[in-house]
Amino acid sequence: MELHIDQPRLEDELDQLAAFSSEAAPVVTRIVFSPADRQARTWLKALFAEAGLSVREDAIGNTFARWVGSDPQLSPVGTGSHIDAIPNAGKYDGTVGVLGALEALRALQRSGFRPKRSIELLLFTAEEPTRFGIGCLGSRMLAGSLSPGAASELRDAEGASLDSLRGEAGFSGDLEQVLLPSGYYSAFVELHIEQGPILDTEGTAIGIVTSIAAPASFNIAIEGQGGHAGTVLMADRKDAFMAAAELATIIERLARSSGAVDTVATIGKCDLFPGAVNSIPSKVKLTLDLRDTDLARRDLLLESLYSACREIGERRGVAIEINQLNADSPAECSAVIISAIRRSCERHQISSRSMVSRAYHDSLFVSRIAPAGMIFIPCRDGISHRPDEYSSAEQITTGVLILAETLAHLANATEYPA
Ligand code: GLV
Ligand code: MN
Ligand code: MN
Repeated sequence: MELHIDQPRLEDELDQLAAFSSEAAPVVTRIVFSPADRQARTWLKALFAEAGLSVREDAIGNTFARWVGSDPQLSPVGTGSHIDAIPNAGKYDGTVGVLGALEALRALQRSGFRPKRSIELLLFTAEEPTRFGIGCLGSRMLAGSLSPGAASELRDAEGASLDSLRGEAGFSGDLEQVLLPSGYYSAFVELHIEQGPILDTEGTAIGIVTSIAAPASFNIAIEGQGGHAGTVLMADRKDAFMAAAELATIIERLARSSGAVDTVATIGKCDLFPGAVNSIPSKVKLTLDLRDTDLARRDLLLESLYSACREIGERRGVAIEINQLNADSPAECSAVIISAIRRSCERHQISSRSMVSRAYHDSLFVSRIAPAGMIFIPCRDGISHRPDEYSSAEQITTGVLILAETLAHLANATEYPA
């Protein structure tokens, strides 16, 4: 089977998708259920239909586009990623795994290949935590890792509930039906940019992911005492921001001294109240994103963090409340999928290497209900979550070729991979 990937068409479609943004190019900002997200979904569904895929959407907006196999009774092979983009993002994160998968299916169709198992392309809702504070919302629910009850409690920063926002976007069904049974997919493969520097630095074309690091996310609220910036003397202050600043440096020190480079901690948001130049902050809200490939090490850091909060709170006379949004376990990728990807790279003499994914992905959750694997392609200087994120059309095309062959192999496999 010789496959031809239509590189100009894919490049053009990536550009078109990037134009669905609430900010002007080169910035891509596409928050889940925003007008840009909704318009992009409509455009994509038309492309899925044009490729002869049958489309269904679930109650959270996960979209399934299926190429029906010659034996539709067999469990399908899945592929796909997300199209939501954090504020001030670029155009390749997630989108390469959606439009790349679509081009992979079209290339297989053009070659005359007919899959035994159906191949299903998924567009997951809200991989990014921007709106609801929790990442991988759609895949988390598919895998049963977030209950419909807990999901219904979610609100965005404006106080709008997930239920009202999904309803406005046209997804009003019962959230109970989002859950997929274990074994629904025989295998799942996601194509994604690496979002780190390893492939680019080495000049390696393909990363074969062996495990996916997992995040724990927290909202931290600190309450002290406000007051006049001139008249309240330093000794009398209970400044919520100074407590937050001390906590931030402790978090950095704990992450740096965990004993492994895999421990990373980020405070990505910090809101001060009342937020006036000449007013001592009485309240601060922080977000904390903490990740590791090793669960025990992450838990150890958390214990130290909780005790630092107690100590800072007592010494400074401020209340520190930590609310854990999620604390996920890392995932191992399927050995069968890993070797299918490797074989395809070898066949084409394309350079590849095994690697850990330090970013999280929808595959982290899909791996809980199906054997999962990921194909990484390089991105320039490892830059991601920025407007200057970039992978060349050739690099993307190579990833799509490997994805297409891997899907073809898995779609005709008689045994479930493990
Ligand atoms: C995904 O976007 C991540 O933050 O790893
Ligand atoms: Mn991302
Ligand atoms: Mn992503």
